[in-house]
Amino acid sequence: MASELAASDEIDAADAWCREGPGRNLPHALVLQGDARDLPLPDDSVDLVVTSPPYWRKRDYGILGQIGQEATAAEYADAIVECLREWRRVLRPSGSVFLNIGDTYHRRSLANVPARVEMAAADDGWMVRNRIVWTKDGGMPEPARNRLANRHEFVIHMTLSGTYYYDLFGYSEAYGNGNGANPGDVWQFNQARHMGDHLAPFPTEVVERAILLACPGELCPVCGEPRQRITRRTARLDERRPQARRAMELAREGGLTPDHIAAVQATGISDAGKALLIQNGTGRNSKRVKQLAAEAKAVLGGYFREFTFALRETVGWTECECRQPFRRGVVLDPFMGTGTTLKTAVRMNRDAVGVDLAPTAMPGALFR
Ligand SMILES: C[S@@+](CC[C@H](N)C(=O)[O-])C[C@H]1O[C@@H](n2cnc3c(N)ncnc32)[C@H](O)[C@@H]1O
Repeated sequence: MASELAASDEIDAADAWCREGPGRNLPHALVLQGDARDLPLPDDSVDLVVTSPPYWRKRDYGILGQIGQEATAAEYADAIVECLREWRRVLRPSGSVFLNIGDTYHRRSLANVPARVEMAAADDGWMVRNRIVWTKDGGMPEPARNRLANRHEFVIHMTLSGTYYYDLFGYSEAYGNGNGANPGDVWQFNQARHMGDHLAPFPTEVVERAILLACPGELCPVCGEPRQRITRRTARLDERRPQARRAMELAREGGLTPDHIAAVQATGISDAGKALLIQNGTGRNSKRVKQLAAEAKAVLGGYFREFTFALRETVGWTECECRQPFRRGVVLDPFMGTGTTLKTAVRMNRDAVGVDLAPTAMPGALFR
């Protein structure tokens, strides 16, 4: 067990694990005991932090050094920022944090904990990319009769810079309407069906969504570059849209060829639009492309626009010039609890590492 190792051995083991991976074919999870503000992990070793810290003044875990029992909400926000500084150290530059956090009523007023954390994080150099609202139908019964029961929490997405790993296409295939549109920043699912004995259940769906969005499946072990999805626009439209069905009908009746459609897509909404696949090498559309686009637009009328946002498909993943075997992305939960994040990450073919102050929360040093 990692918990039984001397602290320095533990750091060596974690270092080897994070640098080289577990060295086996299946994804693994490593469990370590420690403080979320002082992780026994090397720099630049993690791709994604997904975590649910103890909320302010909600539950006393009864352990020395715990977060959550600070005297004021401002002190709690400071403690979370201390954690974020440490997570910044262990995250690779392309990494992200998804922090699940809720608010607390203090003297009958909301303490504005999520807002305080966001502001403190932004002041400390984080980019706050999304404040995702996770809404649920059910929830803990609340005694108050003079206000509405709380039915939402937040998941704050933070990054180190503007260039982070993000797979909106993969995410929207799983959680969108399948036509590549952005599914938006409201997550609707209930807590109850995920609830075990644990008093602070953390739904697997929070973790699944964060991993799909922001943890690369594979990356180069040498330069750390994640493999990015490569997509290509097809000529297929989302047939659930009546406008799309009409556009396809007109294209068929007008005898438009795939070259016509490609020309419409290359020229975009205006003829001066950016060229995509069909270019003449000067960054401008060739005469031939412009002519095909004009023919297509004559047949389609206003419906030509439908083809400018035709469905995309995945055609592969980027390679890396280092030419080394790729390793799996690593997910960290620094408030591991019962290990929901780790189990979900492993199921989704990522490696995972969990840290918790409480030794009893540790199911084992290495599992899969
Ligand atoms: C809300 S629970 C996490 C729930 C978890 N997501 C799950 O699915 O079980 C918070 C956890 O944070 C741990 N904790 C509290 N203070 C900590 C600290 N300073 N560093 C690391 N873990 C801490 C507690 O022991 C507890 O297990």
